[in-house]
Amino acid sequence: MKFKPANHIQDLQYFGEFGGVNPSISDSSTYTFLSAKTMFDTFEGNADGCYLYSRHSSPSNLYLGKALAAMEGTETATVTASGMGAITAVLMQLCKAEDHIVSSRTIYGGTYAFLKNFAPRFKVSTSFVDITKLDLVEAAITSKTKVIYCESVSNPLLEVADIEGLAEIAKKHKLKLIVDNTFSPLSISPAKLGADVVIHSLTKFINGSSDTVAGVICGTQEFIDNLRNVNDGACMLLGATMDSLRAASVLKNLRTLHIRMQQHSKNASYLAQQFEADGLKTVYPNLSSHPSHTLFKSMMNAHYGFGGMLTIDVGSLEKANALMELMQERNLGYLAVSLGFYKTLFSAPGSSTSSEIPEEEQKEMGLSNGLIRFSIGLDADIERTYKMMRECMMELNILKPTVQETAL
Ligand SMILES: Cc1ncc(COP(=O)(O)O)c(C=O)c1O
Repeated sequence: MKFKPANHIQDLQYFGEFGGVNPSISDSSTYTFLSAKTMFDTFEGNADGCYLYSRHSSPSNLYLGKALAAMEGTETATVTASGMGAITAVLMQLCKAEDHIVSSRTIYGGTYAFLKNFAPRFKVSTSFVDITKLDLVEAAITSKTKVIYCESVSNPLLEVADIEGLAEIAKKHKLKLIVDNTFSPLSISPAKLGADVVIHSLTKFINGSSDTVAGVICGTQEFIDNLRNVNDGACMLLGATMDSLRAASVLKNLRTLHIRMQQHSKNASYLAQQFEADGLKTVYPNLSSHPSHTLFKSMMNAHYGFGGMLTIDVGSLEKANALMELMQERNLGYLAVSLGFYKTLFSAPGSSTSSEIPEEEQKEMGLSNGLIRFSIGLDADIERTYKMMRECMMELNILKPTVQETAL
């Protein structure tokens, strides 16, 4: 039977301390103990249900973590102050000096910069590969490799990782497969396909209101306990802790994620089909022209579609910039990085979110200057949005009017 992540979220029942429909927010950095012995046991990690200090855990953060673990189908989860706080903690926990990582070469620019520029300071090296080619992934593994890292749907090129295939390789070589699932919450459940650790930047679709940065790490109880260990846990010691007030607000937004993802996907799918029919070079996993369309279909859970992200290539950075500025002027969305907002967001990744990747490498991976990344919003009337976007494209000579349009 297929996994149904939204049911798992819905089935969680929490009451606030005073019977409220939302759990009460834990507004404390430190917690009292009735006996010194229990405090000692808590430090040792042996006192379930007790709280020590909010960098370690707090009731509000545990509620949110529990809900996200239910969504991903993992034993448990821990929330962090940002997506990067989750990614860096996981990698630092799993790798030590002289270790090696095999990573997809098309990943979020910040993750790329961390692996390429920061991790080598700790003698952790990374080979970047085309993640869609399993033979290249396996060939990059050395005796020092500890981790395979990828995004289920990659930022910004929307390459799709064969998670089951990668999990098989990881298992064979005794590596951990870490999957960043930020672009495809609910649609893809990486842990169900064999990933060891699933990460999200909650900043994006899951929170959905572009009012905070936040992250989560979903995995086994043992791994999450290790991350929180007071002596050598990366979450505990690096300190990227989520604030309780934020945890409470992200939890409330999570409750509507399934409805939002359906609308994001429906709108993005409509626009992608129209743009492609107009002759624009369009990338969206629901298009049969997408090289991994069938793979995505084979991995996806029912109901949530192919996600809210699409790209088009308008030929040059100048044209891309002019189009984005005009669309913003016409109130079709915002010229802004990030994703998952109720309104459409667009940016040119080559000069923004992926600018950490050197130009030569961008070219090699197919990240062209004219590429615009769209996070499609929750527009109620997507046909109207399309018509207005098309008008912008015609004004800028990105699209030519059809014979009928010319005759009008
Ligand atoms: C796929 C992906 N992972 C991780 C991150 C980093 O998340 P945050 O900005 O919450 O630190 C981003 C941010 O854009 C992202 O797109």
